[in-house]
Amino acid sequence: MPVHHLGRTVFGNPANAGNTMTLEEAHRLLNEWVPNERLRLHMKQVAAVMKAWAIEKENADETTALKWELAGLLHDADWEKYPDDHCRIIIEKLEAMNIDPDIIHCIASHGPAYFGVEPVNSMDKMIYAFDELSGFVHASALVRPTRYEGMDTKSVLKKLKTPSFAAQVNRNDITDALSRINIPLEELIDFVITHQRGVS
Ligand SMILES: [Fe+2]
Repeated sequence: MPVHHLGRTVFGNPANAGNTMTLEEAHRLLNEWVPNERLRLHMKQVAAVMKAWAIEKENADETTALKWELAGLLHDADWEKYPDDHCRIIIEKLEAMNIDPDIIHCIASHGPAYFGVEPVNSMDKMIYAFDELSGFVHASALVRPTRYEGMDTKSVLKKLKTPSFAAQVNRNDITDALSRINIPLEELIDFVITHQRGVS
């Protein structure tokens, strides 16, 4: 069994449906658990993209949009301090806090090949699709003198086809995530650029 496999597919307690935390609480947890500013930025970017997708594409109400945002914000919260136990530690923490099981399942399914948990609903599938893509778009911005300014989807697509560029980004995960949703890669890249460019 791969090292990160969680060994279960059910998370949280259905009785906790609707239980969230405030963004202030989530940021406090993030600041406490993730000293690495770049990793924190990654989670804030995924959170911004998830929230925007929920509102713009899923017609989400306020609580649902917050759930998408929180899942994005916390999905790698244990990565820096507990790399060997990622993402078991954050999952257990959220379960102990009686957080909505949708948020916990979403975090657990953001890497099916690693955690052994299949994305089920649209929140699960989108975090899987956005996670690597968000990191890739940011890596693409960092090598441009003007960063996100004037950045277009085509240049990101071209870099994706260059295996040596941002080689740590797993292209197979992106392809697999895309195969589970009916949304063109170009549209996702465009959405990521638009919604994470202003995040700091
Ligand atoms: Fe991530």
